Amino acid sequence: MSDRILIFDTTLRDGEQSPGCSMNLAEKVGLARQLEKLGVDIIEAGFPIASDGDFEAVKAVAKEVRGPIICGLARTGEADVERAGQALDGARAPRIHTFIATSDIHLEHKLRMNREQVLAEVDRAVRQARGYVDDVEFSAEDATRSDREYLVEIFTAALEAGARTLNVPDTVGYTTPDEYGDLIRYLIANVPDSGRAVFSVHCHNDLGLAVANSLAAVRAGARQVECTVNGIGERAGNTSLEEVVMAIKTRPDVCNGADTGIATQEIYASSRMLSSVTGVAVQPNKAIVGENAFAHEAGIHQDGVLKAAITYEIMTPESIGRKSNELVLGKHSGRHAFKDRLAELGFDIEGEEFQRAFKRFKDLADSKKVIYDEDLEAIVADSSIDSDDRFALESLAIQSGTSGKAHATIKLVVDGVARETTASGVGPVDAIFKGISDLTETESELDRYQVHAVTAGLDAQGEVSVTIHEAGRRVVGHAAHEDVLVASGRAYVHALNKLEWHRKRKPVEEPKGI
Ligand code: KIV
Ligand code: ZN
Repeated sequence: MSDRILIFDTTLRDGEQSPGCSMNLAEKVGLARQLEKLGVDIIEAGFPIASDGDFEAVKAVAKEVRGPIICGLARTGEADVERAGQALDGARAPRIHTFIATSDIHLEHKLRMNREQVLAEVDRAVRQARGYVDDVEFSAEDATRSDREYLVEIFTAALEAGARTLNVPDTVGYTTPDEYGDLIRYLIANVPDSGRAVFSVHCHNDLGLAVANSLAAVRAGARQVECTVNGIGERAGNTSLEEVVMAIKTRPDVCNGADTGIATQEIYASSRMLSSVTGVAVQPNKAIVGENAFAHEAGIHQDGVLKAAITYEIMTPESIGRKSNELVLGKHSGRHAFKDRLAELGFDIEGEEFQRAFKRFKDLADSKKVIYDEDLEAIVADSSIDSDDRFALESLAIQSGTSGKAHATIKLVVDGVARETTASGVGPVDAIFKGISDLTETESELDRYQVHAVTAGLDAQGEVSVTIHEAGRRVVGHAAHEDVLVASGRAYVHALNKLEWHRKRKPVEEPKGI
């Protein structure tokens, strides 16, 4: 058995399904490029039948990102598989990932099908998928609550029909490491000709065991791990890519010498890019990529690390591409230095977007003495342009204080036409948001407003995240600026543009059951 573990990244599919993590097309393609740099083997770029937006995203990623295998998800239904096949047309290395639930709980309550019907469906869907692509993955949804003997029948059928990756999802995050490892061993031992397939694992983190379960599966012979950057995903999330990869790298002795093809020095840039695109921050004590993951606070630890890093450090920050807050650029830095530093941080921006970012950098360097990597990331996130954007904030002026209401005068461009209004509110943010809602004629509801300083110092940029929803769709907008009120206005406009993007691409059919 090979020792190489394939990393299947589903940040753009299972990850994107989690609240507040929706991304637009440009964001998905940008992230897919970073995943390619990170060295993932497979990118699951979306669920093409779920919406026109997902279809377009899979198509665009397949066209732009040529290194990894690009995968599209499909239920076993004919229309699903066909749509996935169409979205992947033109990919260098396409994969269709088809799935159906196999637990009696799902068969009875969700699918209302019997075991024979599901078995026939697996055979049909995998053969149909093989009509489009050579590389087909089959998943038995809710495998960890399915009857083991029935699972053997299901995977045998999928293998015979032409699937070469057999995925064993712990859909509801129910299993434990011993049990899961045992299941993988059982399947490998009992599916006839199992050596022709790669056994894959896909864990959810409901009991906080997703990474531990994935590692147990690797020890048991699984050779593909499905995971997401920062562990984002449905409910408590999916297996965190950075955690599982660094565990395999740090402890090959307990992983039977297994290794991945991940360029671990790209991990931190990938994590930061995802957070800045979605506006969903990583908790400070998150393993590997959290703010405190390498911070030794206790005196006794600091003393030990200074004497010999090995005393308390099991891996180095550099191994995941993490540098300390260093002064990177100043007000005299030119375009080249700026571009080079962005490239080191994983951002490859061109044209108008680059010009905007450079101007923002120069403006910031005029008012802020020290520019950190975090500032640059915030600038890039704030400068991304989507030509589809309906709204752009031109300017705002605020009047507020200790007495009376706050007033905001706002100039906005809506569909290319300049509009202006003055609105009042209980505070300046309320006034800004009311004015923007009036000008854009939108009626979304605000779920959450967050602001945090990008770096230390009184002259730090404020990064604002605004979560809003409308008609069941939740999005997060974000922006950074030295003036938190300007950042607030921009973040709100960013969120509204995202809602517009989704509105234009209404779901074709609401996917059920995942
Ligand atoms: O959690 C799950 O079962 C899934 C499948 C589609 C693989 O996401
Ligand atoms: Zn999942």
